[in-house]
Amino acid sequence: MRLVRLIANLGYGSRKDVAWMFREGRVTDPDGEVLYADDKVEHAQIFIDGEPLDPPTGILLMMNKPLGVTCSRKDPGRVVYDLLPPRYRARNPALSTVGRLDRDTSGLLLFTDDGALLHRIISPRANLGKVYEATLAQDLRGDEQALFASGMLILESETTPLLPASLDVLAPRHARLRIAEGRYHQVRRMFAATGNHVQALQRTAIGGLQLDGLAPGAWRQLVADEIARIFESTEPTHVLDFTAIR
Ligand code: URA
Repeated sequence: MRLVRLIANLGYGSRKDVAWMFREGRVTDPDGEVLYADDKVEHAQIFIDGEPLDPPTGILLMMNKPLGVTCSRKDPGRVVYDLLPPRYRARNPALSTVGRLDRDTSGLLLFTDDGALLHRIISPRANLGKVYEATLAQDLRGDEQALFASGMLILESETTPLLPASLDVLAPRHARLRIAEGRYHQVRRMFAATGNHVQALQRTAIGGLQLDGLAPGAWRQLVADEIARIFESTEPTHVLDFTAIR
């Protein structure tokens, strides 16, 4: 791909803007030698204003989503995309969140511009567990573990039961829940179904990938090993019987 188009697609500006960047000598190699628009160079050899060019398409980012920001692109309030450099919003193909977290939920959120990878992560076939830690308004009753594991719980205004989910009780009002689906407000509604209320919710893992020590609002690109870790089998929440699916 020609350099102007490559750099424009990474969100640095229109093709016209990028052509100007070349004329101004802002596009260089790692040693500061000016590059020209028709040069043939490796991606890693391209610097803009002395900084390495952003990664090529096919990226997966992880963020520790803070409270109070939404995963939507259109919300008039603060959105997760505001926490990335502005040009990441202008990338083509576009970067999207892999599933969503509510405004009042914090924790592990992934972004990718790779539609196939996004589908692999969210597909029910992947059966990837998502782990949440919930702080509750009231003490657990004691029957939640069995209810959530039963595969019989039907959330209000739904007709299909939830897949079995596993619950670890960490304290009377603190629990870790591993679910395989991503229904609307699922964790809050599961606890609401037991007469409780989630006061604070954080996602700590997706598949085998843990949130680690990222500070709230911080993000970073995942390397191949970490992407593979997402799909490494962790304790499954349930066993999917695909023979039943036609
Ligand atoms: N379940 C919820 O209730 N909220 C989230 O953000 C994610 C899962």
